[in-house]
Amino acid sequence: MKQITIAIDGFSSTGKSTVAKLVAKALGYVYVDSGAMYRAITFFAMQNDMISNNHFSKDKLIAELPNAKVSFKFNDELGFAEVYLNDENIERDIRTLEVSNLVSTIAAIPEVRAQLVKIQKEIGKHKAVVMDGRDIGTVVFPDAELKIFMSASADTRAARRFKELSDRGETVSYQDVLENVQKRDHLDSTRKDSPLYKAEDAIAIDNSNLTIQEQLDFILQQVQTILKA
Ligand code: CDP
Repeated sequence: MKQITIAIDGFSSTGKSTVAKLVAKALGYVYVDSGAMYRAITFFAMQNDMISNNHFSKDKLIAELPNAKVSFKFNDELGFAEVYLNDENIERDIRTLEVSNLVSTIAAIPEVRAQLVKIQKEIGKHKAVVMDGRDIGTVVFPDAELKIFMSASADTRAARRFKELSDRGETVSYQDVLENVQKRDHLDSTRKDSPLYKAEDAIAIDNSNLTIQEQLDFILQQVQTILKA
C-alpha cells in the first residue's frame, strides 16, 4: 500500500500531538513530536546554566550543540516514542511551564533548527510518518502529501494546557499559561528562521469546537482520498 507523509503544524497547545498520535496509530505510521526536540535542547541549555529567565549564553549553547544528542525510543506501554537527551529519558522534564517559557527563544536559533531538522528529515525519509510542529509542512517536508494547519482560540488552548499541567500535578496559574501560549505564538510566528505560517497547500482546521474523534475522522478521510487518487 502507498505510504504518505503527514505534516501537522499550528499554534501552541492546539492539540496537534493528541490527534497526530491517533492518526499514526490508525495508519500504523511513526509519530514524531518535533516540539519535544526543541524542548529537549531547551532542557539541555537549562541544565547547563546557559539559559534562565534573565540570561542566555547563546554562543555557548551553539558551541555545545554537538553534545546534545536528541533521539526517540518507542515505549510499548504508552504506544508512542519518548524523547531522550544523551540516552536519558526526559519526556516528563520537558513538559513544564518553565521549559515552555524558554523554548521559543531556543527554537529561533538557526544552528539549533539545522541540527534538529536534519534528524527529522532522516526519520521521515521512508514516509509513513506523522510529524507535528511549526515548520513541518513548510521546511521539513514541503512535499508532504497531506498538510494540516491547526488553530483554536487562545482561551480554548490555554484552558486545555492548564488542565494538562494541573492533571500532571504542576502548580500553575491559568493566567501564566495563557500568557505563555500567546507569547510563544508571537515569537514562533515572527522569528526569521522557519517562522510558523500555514503552507499554501495545507488544510486549515479550527478545532475550538471539534472533538478529538471529529478531527481524527476528518484527517483519516483526507488520507483515504489521497491514497485512492
Ligand atoms: O506546547 P505545544 O505542544 O504547542 O508546543 P510544542 O509542539 O511542544 O513546541 C514547543 C516549541 O518548540 C514551540 O513553541 C516552538 O517554539 C518550537 N518548535 C519549533 O520551532 N518548530 C517545530 N517544528 C516544533 C516546535
